[in-house]
Amino acid sequence: MTIQLKDEEGIRGMRVACRLAAEVLDYLEPLIKPGITTNEIDKLAHDYMVDVQGCIPAPLNYAPNGYKPYPKSICTSINHQVCHGIPNDKPLKKGDILNVDITTIKDGWHGDTSRMFSVGETSIAARRLCQLTFEAMWHGIVMVKPGARLGDIGYAIQRFAEGQGCSVVREFCGHGIGRGFHEEPQVLHYGKPGTLEELVPGMIFTIEPMINAGRRDIKELGDGWTIVTRDHSLSAQWEHTVLVTPTGYEVLTLSAGSPALPSFVTTTAC
Ligand code: MF3
Ligand code: CO
Ligand code: CO
Repeated sequence: MTIQLKDEEGIRGMRVACRLAAEVLDYLEPLIKPGITTNEIDKLAHDYMVDVQGCIPAPLNYAPNGYKPYPKSICTSINHQVCHGIPNDKPLKKGDILNVDITTIKDGWHGDTSRMFSVGETSIAARRLCQLTFEAMWHGIVMVKPGARLGDIGYAIQRFAEGQGCSVVREFCGHGIGRGFHEEPQVLHYGKPGTLEELVPGMIFTIEPMINAGRRDIKELGDGWTIVTRDHSLSAQWEHTVLVTPTGYEVLTLSAGSPALPSFVTTTAC
């Protein structure tokens, strides 16, 4: 078991798959309003990936060890749902917060990204959680450069999120990505500086913190996929796919509709 470093050809392929994944989120954004169902969003996303982009939606029938095949083309996780929510026929309502997680496959390469969306007007607490989770992801991203370690990323995220009075989900993590959906290494969103694998140019992995407003504990629902907070507190998640460059990082899952960078971030590639 080793970390697959990507060469120039792999990096070119990953740039395309990742941009396309981000563009699915751009396409969906104006549609996410009270009344639409997550099944409708799933169908629109599926058709856009397949018919417009010429991509394969990676989640559909994805069946890692111990899981039954995932039945839909995207993940939609609402309010206290942490991740892997399965689209259904229930309409979204004003005040919901929603994570949409898109993974495309283009020419065999995977691009993986998610954003939070507000459905109509949302509470101050919900907006704050979404924004600070976005910032937590970026605190992790800016740590990425050769010589840094995975523990530096996890520590930066945990320190920020806990400093804001929130908690970090431990059971799910970022991951290497490329020809495989989930490759080595695991990218924990908590940890200690200077520990774990050293980053080297050509690594590509996701950073995708799940941050809870309440306690960090989670449970899995009977559908075998949906993860929720045990205390039913709100949870948020953002995800980017990131390349380690010779001098820093390049965020691959950017598109025209990507939200503005936090003020402490100066660049998306360095
Ligand atoms: N996209 C998720 C991730 O970021 C994984 C979803 S697996 C699925 O790793 F089967 F639920 F789609
Ligand atoms: Co991922
Ligand atoms: Co994802």
